[in-house]
Amino acid sequence: MTTQSTRPETDTPGLRFPTGFVWGAATSAYQIEGSTLVDGRGTSIWDTFCRQDGRVVGGDNADLAIDHYNRYREDVRLMADLGLTAYRFSVSWPRIQPDGSGAYNAKGLDFYKRLVDELLSYGIDPWLTLYHWDLPQALEDAGGWPARDTSKRFADFAATVHAELADRVKNWSTVNEPWCAAFLGYASGEHAPGRREPAAALRAAHHLNLAHGLAVQAMRAQNPDSQIGGCVNLYAISPASDSEADQDAARRIDGLQNRFFLDALLKGAYPEDVLDDLSHLSDMSFIQDGDMKTIAAPLDMLLLNYYSRFTVSGAPGGALSAAAAPTDSGSPWIGSEHIGFVNGGRPVTAMGWEIDDTGLFEVLNRLADEYPPIPLYISENGAAFDDVIGADGTIHDPERVAYIEAHLRTCHAAIEAGVPLQGYFAWSLMDNFEWAWGYGKRFGLVYVDYETQVRTMKSSALWYADTIRHGGLLGRAQ
Ligand code: FCB
Repeated sequence: MTTQSTRPETDTPGLRFPTGFVWGAATSAYQIEGSTLVDGRGTSIWDTFCRQDGRVVGGDNADLAIDHYNRYREDVRLMADLGLTAYRFSVSWPRIQPDGSGAYNAKGLDFYKRLVDELLSYGIDPWLTLYHWDLPQALEDAGGWPARDTSKRFADFAATVHAELADRVKNWSTVNEPWCAAFLGYASGEHAPGRREPAAALRAAHHLNLAHGLAVQAMRAQNPDSQIGGCVNLYAISPASDSEADQDAARRIDGLQNRFFLDALLKGAYPEDVLDDLSHLSDMSFIQDGDMKTIAAPLDMLLLNYYSRFTVSGAPGGALSAAAAPTDSGSPWIGSEHIGFVNGGRPVTAMGWEIDDTGLFEVLNRLADEYPPIPLYISENGAAFDDVIGADGTIHDPERVAYIEAHLRTCHAAIEAGVPLQGYFAWSLMDNFEWAWGYGKRFGLVYVDYETQVRTMKSSALWYADTIRHGGLLGRAQ
């Protein structure tokens, strides 16, 4: 596979990133692995969910996905061809503990050992995420994330994986996007397990945070050299107008989307205004003494996923582009179901998500200004577009290049402004199973033919390889 330069160098100065900046790409277990029935893997909530009518567009499932479980060597080779310095992946909990607790399944763990060894053999740094949404079904049957015990089960799982892999994996993150796991899983029902129970979703959010904190404690006790972070999905939020109602809408959505998780992890308290917004749902007695201290266990880094901006209004309805779900779902915005998501007038990706790199600048600066200092990594950023293979077998995706380039320019500007941003992971390395959207949305730098499983670098992959090789962006052609 060649990765020759896709653009001429120009006289316009490029943007070089600091030495040591991490250039990565990300995936998650359920979205790529397939092989759901082999080597003792148990059932996850996503296996169950995909089998229910109307949950996933086209009735798609990830039984095969992109067969990464069998093709991981080829995939690591692709990463090496791209020149990635790091690869973020997740571990499938039901491969390790088929029923979510107890003795671990050695065959499941061996897969990740093989994967990590393969990465290390190419000098690619493995970044391991412990939970990217594939809860063992047995734990959902016992109550799922709304049940406090699930947090303890997660800490056990984290300790198990960490005990086996911390000798060769330095960078660890706990729960990917707890907002999605709680509110898409238990409030809107767009994601597995598909429940629509706002009060349970709130408990789930707290228990996901608690799971994070307990896992951090367990891993720290085992190996103080590990670099450990939490991983949140942050949005820039704008009110549709200056009206009081729209401003309040922005406060509420920012509160539940961003501050509920950031304040808990980095300040050890939930924002009072958000607890007020939710007080009709619960007396909050599920927050027990000591929980907030556990949740705010010191971290080495914060991983953040950024995709878009929401423009919100106090009036219901609006062109729901930013928040639209592909299937019949309720609102994930518990306590704020009346809020409308309006069209901010920006170009959109194939997901209908508005493209706005200035939002990333806001998010990064806000973290630097309003929270205790902590190294930051963008653990996901990228875009779906309707890619097609040309007659010559190439995939030309200039919109994805433009998206990533704009966001990298923003990253550079944020670093210049003093934000401690230390790395960037493109979502995603390869096209894959996009949750409730099935295989219809392609986020990959690498195109995957779902019939043959053949992988082909898109022009964005070649461009990203070029960027990595130059340690930054080349000057723009005039
Ligand atoms: C994020 C998820 C990731 C992928 C991207 C598009 O919310 O973490 O798995 O679905 O969105």
